[in-house]
Amino acid sequence: MKKKISVSTALFGLAMFSQAAIAAGSLNVVCSAEQSWCDLMTTEFEKQTGIDVAMVRKSTGETLAQVRAESENPKTDIWWGGTGDPHLIAASEGLTQPSGVDTSDLLGWAVNMSNISEGRTVGIYAGALGIAYNSELIKEKNLEAPACWKDLTDVSYAGEIQVANPNSSGTAYTELATFVQLFGEEEAISLLTEIGKNVNQYTKSGSAPSKAAARGETSISIGFMHDMVKLASSGFPLEIVAPCEGTGYEVGAVSIIEGAKNLESAKKWVEFSLDPAVQSRSVEVKAFQVPSNSKATVAPESPGLSSIKLIDYDFATYGSSETRQRLLARWDTDVKNAEKN
Ligand code: G6P
Repeated sequence: MKKKISVSTALFGLAMFSQAAIAAGSLNVVCSAEQSWCDLMTTEFEKQTGIDVAMVRKSTGETLAQVRAESENPKTDIWWGGTGDPHLIAASEGLTQPSGVDTSDLLGWAVNMSNISEGRTVGIYAGALGIAYNSELIKEKNLEAPACWKDLTDVSYAGEIQVANPNSSGTAYTELATFVQLFGEEEAISLLTEIGKNVNQYTKSGSAPSKAAARGETSISIGFMHDMVKLASSGFPLEIVAPCEGTGYEVGAVSIIEGAKNLESAKKWVEFSLDPAVQSRSVEVKAFQVPSNSKATVAPESPGLSSIKLIDYDFATYGSSETRQRLLARWDTDVKNAEKN
């Protein structure tokens, strides 16, 4: 008799437990920031809310393609991280929905994303684009250290430069859009084509080239400075360059997918990701972007945007489907197929 009671008590307890788990809910997240940051966010959100998170890491352009492909029957609730332009494009195509989150503590560039998209996306971090080189390789190969974007066209860098593909990578799309804003479309395409002659590989993800430069697999990379700082501060021989002509920047963003099956959990994630205490924890995984909440702590290693010659990046234009389609088509035809030096 005694034994019977304890079994049914255990079963009752188990039923209560699984009901609680169901009640807390679940959430499907595609994360386009660095894997270590995606993991930290997932663990912390689960801990704070009891909501079960299924997360995958995908580059920004790849995620846009996935969200488009799934629009009839979305499997994703939240798209967190990655460069802002594809988030804006998703918003303009009705693939995401307003979160209704309070933006009053956010910095201007983060609110701007919300304004352009009528609340469908909002800024979570910012970071500038730059060049990195492996100081040991540059010395060994007797190469000049680059200081400007235009330096990268020099034939002495044949096979020495790595950068991502702008179709899959938000980082590389930011580079393409930055060149167009700095030099005008025709000159931008011809400069990227000249640089393309020196490129040894177009990677899928935006941070891969700097990781390759850190490991000595390529001499030079183009990417976000905060990713380079992360590697340099981990002891790799990387030097970081703010290009002399000036540079562009990203506003990383978060969006709720239109038709999300776990809408309440998704809204909680957006709130959570704007929380200054949560944003301040990015330093634990060496994510050195500038956080969007004015009350969050900025890591001392964070490349300060005010100390870099930044362009006035036009997010509305470069975050439009028409511009993206045109620029990617030109990149595919002219830049990608450039004959190598
Ligand atoms: C890295 C950076 C992020 C950026 C992301 C874009 O993870 O740390 O700031 O948003 O790259 O990734 P992608 O692979 O799309 O270029």
